[in-house]
Amino acid sequence: MEERFITSTKNLTDAEIENSLRPTSFDEYVGQSKIKDSLSVYIKAAKSRKESLDHVLLYGPPGLGKTTLSHIIANELGSQLKITSGPAIEHAADLAAILTNLNQNDVLFIDEIHRLHKTVEEILYPAMEDFALDFISGKGPSAKNIRLKIQPFTLIGATTRAGMLTNPLRDRFGIICRLELYSIDELQEIITRSAGILNIQIDEGASREIAKRSRGTPRIANRLLKRVRDYAEVHGEGKINKRIADKTLDIMEIDDLGLDYIDRKILNSIIKKFKGGPVGLETLAATISEDASTIEDVYEPYLLQLGFISRTPRGRVALEPAYKHLGIEKGE
Ligand SMILES: Nc1ncnc2c1ncn2[C@@H]1O[C@H](COP(=O)(O)OP(=O)(O)OP(=O)(O)O)[C@@H](O)[C@H]1O
Ligand SMILES: [Mg+2]
Repeated sequence: MEERFITSTKNLTDAEIENSLRPTSFDEYVGQSKIKDSLSVYIKAAKSRKESLDHVLLYGPPGLGKTTLSHIIANELGSQLKITSGPAIEHAADLAAILTNLNQNDVLFIDEIHRLHKTVEEILYPAMEDFALDFISGKGPSAKNIRLKIQPFTLIGATTRAGMLTNPLRDRFGIICRLELYSIDELQEIITRSAGILNIQIDEGASREIAKRSRGTPRIANRLLKRVRDYAEVHGEGKINKRIADKTLDIMEIDDLGLDYIDRKILNSIIKKFKGGPVGLETLAATISEDASTIEDVYEPYLLQLGFISRTPRGRVALEPAYKHLGIEKGE
C-alpha cells in the first residue's frame, strides 16, 4: 500500500516517537487554552475535595491531542490511568472486570468510545452515574436485580465523532471538551519543542513553514518535522532552514496550505464533476475511492476551517477560496 501522509491517523513509527514527544503536563501542552483553564480548575477542586473528577468527553479530529490530554489529566490528578478502547471491549463482562478492578479516583480512558457495543455501553450508565454495576441474577419470576458498588472513578472518553455517541452516554459526561485545530503560532511552538527533544537543529523560517503546512494538527507537524530532518540528513545539511523545508514539502506534494493530493482530489471533484456541488458525502467518497468517514474525520475539518467547502443539507459545496487556490475560474 502506498504511504499516506496527511491521514493524521497513526502509523507504526509514529507510535514510538509520539511517546517521546508527548507532553506530560498542562505547562508543556501547547494551545487549547480554554480546555486547559477549565480542566485545571475542575482538577484542583476535585483534588481538594478528595473526590473523583467528573467524567470527561474529549472530541475532535485525529491527532489534536486527545490521548495526550487524558495522560495529562491523570498526571495532574495524581491518579492511575487505565487505557482501553471501544472496539477492544467485546463483552459486557470485560468492561465489568475493568471497572471492578479500578482503585479509588483512578482514571479510565476509553478511546474511540463511539465504537462501544451497545450491551457494553449499558454497563457504563450506572457505573458513571452511581459508581455501581447492575446485574440480574437468576431467571424468570425469581430473577433479582443485584447492585454491586465500585470505586469512584473518572471516565475519559475520546472520539473523533461526538455526533455518533448515544444520548444516554453523552449526557453522563459532566465535562465535554471540543478540541480545536491549532494556530500556526501554536504549531510552530510545538515544532520547536519537538525539535529540541529530538535534537534537530532548525531555524525560525523553517519551523514556521512546517507549521503553515501542518493543517492545524500537531501529529502532522511532528511528522513533517521528521521528514524534513530525514531529507536534510540525506543531503548533508546541518541546520534545517526554510529552503530545505520548502524543498522537502514540495517533493511530498504538500502545498503551501498543507493540502495534499487527496484534498485536491476532493476539491477538484466537487468543482469539476459536480459543478461546485452540492454533492452528498457518499457520492463524493465513491467518486474519489475514499472512505466517507475518512473524508469526514480527516480531510473535511481543515477544508471547512479554510473556508474551502461548506456543508449544506443537500451536500458539500465548494466555495470561492477553493477555486482561487486551485486556480480555477468559477463556471469554467
Ligand atoms: N497540545 C499539544 N502540545 C504539544 N504536542 C501535542 C499537543 N497535542 C498533541 N501533540 C502531539 O501530537 C501527537 C498526537 O497527539 P494524540 O495522540 O494525543 O492525538 P489524538 O487526538 O489522541 O489522536 P487520535 O484521534 O488519532 O487518537 C502527540 O504525540 C503529541 O506529541
Ligand atoms: Mg488518541
